[in-house]
Amino acid sequence: MPKLKDTYPLYLNNKAQQPNTDLAVTDKYSGEIAFRTALATPEIIDAAIAGAVRATEPMARLASFERKAVLEHCVARFEERAEELAYSLCVEAGKPIGDAEGEVDRLIDTFRIAAEESVRLGGEVMPLDISPRAAGYQSIWKRVPVGPCSFISPFNFPLNLAAHKIAPAIAVGCPFVLKPASKTPLGALIIGEVLAETDLPEGAFSILPASRDGADLFTTDERLKLLSFTGSDTVGWALKARAGKKKVVLELGGNAAVIVDEDADLDDAIERVIKGTYYQSGQSCISVQRILIHAAVYDRFRDMLVERAQSLVVGDPKQRDTFIGPMIDEGEAERLKGWIDEAVANGATLLCGGGRDGQMIEATLLEDVDTAAKIVNEEAFGPVAVLMKFDDFDAALEEVNRSEFGLQAGIFTRDLFKVLDAWDRVECGGICINEVPSFRVDNMPYGGVKNSGLGREGVRFAMEDMTEIRNLVIRRT
Ligand code: SIN
Repeated sequence: MPKLKDTYPLYLNNKAQQPNTDLAVTDKYSGEIAFRTALATPEIIDAAIAGAVRATEPMARLASFERKAVLEHCVARFEERAEELAYSLCVEAGKPIGDAEGEVDRLIDTFRIAAEESVRLGGEVMPLDISPRAAGYQSIWKRVPVGPCSFISPFNFPLNLAAHKIAPAIAVGCPFVLKPASKTPLGALIIGEVLAETDLPEGAFSILPASRDGADLFTTDERLKLLSFTGSDTVGWALKARAGKKKVVLELGGNAAVIVDEDADLDDAIERVIKGTYYQSGQSCISVQRILIHAAVYDRFRDMLVERAQSLVVGDPKQRDTFIGPMIDEGEAERLKGWIDEAVANGATLLCGGGRDGQMIEATLLEDVDTAAKIVNEEAFGPVAVLMKFDDFDAALEEVNRSEFGLQAGIFTRDLFKVLDAWDRVECGGICINEVPSFRVDNMPYGGVKNSGLGREGVRFAMEDMTEIRNLVIRRT
């Protein structure tokens, strides 16, 4: 097993610094302190933003091959340090080791995609001579970096959701300051350690764990030209309201639905739905929360689900056979247990699970849940799903849309016409056919509508957000 260090520095203007060891980060399974790191003060954050402003021009002047070389260096170093990275996720996030290794693979994908995209940042030539007054004119537009960016990343994917901000920023030449989640700062700090091995211009990056109260500048400082936040919808929309003139990208929550239609291959669907519901204890914005099953196959699929859910091993995330590890903290587990109990008190049937032991929640399935229940309408962010029966595909689509969120949805069907209909009608950023909504490859456009957010990640799409179009008009004389 790799070992973690006792303390980790923050990164201010590309350099490791240890002004204090004020942030104690626990092993989410044992509850013991795993390591300490520095907490950035508002003065440190201010110095980082000033450094990012100074780095704006040198970053924008980097040649494509130089940006690509930095990203390729990261890919190589992450491959070398893969075991240590996975272990760090297992400790600080309580992520089962298999899921942790999967996240490291995705981190590498994200940086590799960014390396490839960094040399493809093109533009367009446009004829402007559309009427006599513009005869002899044409325009050429290109993309230029937006400038210093502010990034706030969440606890549930400490590496890859930080990577979805960092890698596109380097690919386009934007300096940035990043605040990782205080419960899981290590992933981003190790990315910082690797970036510090490169010759990025001074001030190109700062990675600063900070308390929420001390981190106001990430949102309000007008020197920052873009804020990209991943986290809860409540926090995200509140930050947007205080972000002033900067561009804002929000990757927020969801209560994702999957439809299992009457013609679905149930044996194929079952493993995917189980994984989509329970991987990393359901702590993903696109984990399956609402399972809509056609009446013709409802009983059979429900019984299959219950049997598989009951077979999942709940326990120590460092053990290979563990499927469900701890939730991020006891407060979250308590909140979710309350939602389960409330649904049952209002008439829902508990099909399996429902128990809590500290931070651990059992794999839980409910049916006959009141449609007004929190567990249906709000983001559960835990290992719980509700089953619903339908006999009309249109009504199922309406049920998918009967949500304040709209991140991704999944549909198991072999009917192409239903697929096309759903693609037109489902109010989500993405629809996955014969897959759960929890599916994501890191180059695909990813993001939500309604309360789920604004803008898209997926490297190329984030690069677009991190640039402005600059037009050149040419008159031939
Ligand atoms: C999220 O929780 O928003 C991201 C899910 C993923 O990247 O798989």
